[in-house]
Amino acid sequence: MTARPIIIDTDPGQDDAIAILMALASPELDVRAITTVAGNVPQPRVTDNSLSLVTLAEREDVPVYRGCSRPLVRKLYTAEYVHGPTGVDGADLPTPTVEAHPMHGVDAIIEACLDAGDEPITVCPLGPLTNIGMAIAKEPSILDGIREIVWMGGAFDEAGNTTPLAEFNAYVDPHAAHIVFSSGVPLTIMPLDVTHKALMVERHVEHLASIDRPAAQAAAGMVRFYERYDIDKYGIPGAPLHDPCVIAFLLEPSLFSGETGPIAIDHWNEATIGNTYRSEEEGVGRATVMSSVDADAFFDLVIERVGSL
Ligand code: BDR
Ligand code: CA
Repeated sequence: MTARPIIIDTDPGQDDAIAILMALASPELDVRAITTVAGNVPQPRVTDNSLSLVTLAEREDVPVYRGCSRPLVRKLYTAEYVHGPTGVDGADLPTPTVEAHPMHGVDAIIEACLDAGDEPITVCPLGPLTNIGMAIAKEPSILDGIREIVWMGGAFDEAGNTTPLAEFNAYVDPHAAHIVFSSGVPLTIMPLDVTHKALMVERHVEHLASIDRPAAQAAAGMVRFYERYDIDKYGIPGAPLHDPCVIAFLLEPSLFSGETGPIAIDHWNEATIGNTYRSEEEGVGRATVMSSVDADAFFDLVIERVGSL
């Protein structure tokens, strides 16, 4: 088996953290780089958290690159109200044993895609699309080195979680999302429509917590902290594990289903900014937008992989 080369672009975030741990535990995936982006919490916090996660997973061989510190056009909007001041509250992550690579995250994405040769890269953004939009703007020929982008973001038939219409990652950098959507890159989206069906309920958390290994303990602690926000806001019985849906899709695509068609994001109208929608407009992109998941099989996969570290 040849492992699939991927880049994880991320703003940890408890759910980002679990996605990263899952990917680092999966032999089917060759994590070429982790690039960080300001989102749930600012830089340098997201970078420090990523360094702690490669340390926790004993995967210090995976380079972490500091990416953008703010969105392309708008002011940075963060989500400590969801994730806590560290972004990964609930876990006592180890002090990093490695430092961030000196290259900028945008340049790391460009270099990896230009060097991809006959092994194009799957780019997995788990946060605002700032770094990916910047990389496409700086070097459009990187698109030839990208197999596909699988992004967690957006809300199509589901309401937003940051405004009534906008999901967080879409809201934070809608201009970067527009660059990505309209680039023509093969794109799969895991919006709230599917992630709100991937709820980690008490029996899943108990299972994770029963695994006496550092990564499983950290993941259980993070879910226990992070679930309170969605339980209070939506009255649902657990935490949606948004970002791990991206990694699970790479490992077991048959767990998910959705539809392919034209899409767009509102990036000009302040009242509706960040709204992702299906569109027939000329010049806007296409994506496969996922809407359902086999939640039990998904959680079995998350727990098996994180528990194996
Ligand atoms: C997305 O926003 C962040 O809060 C999570 O990490 C996830 O990527 C969910 O809307
Ligand atoms: Ca995220």
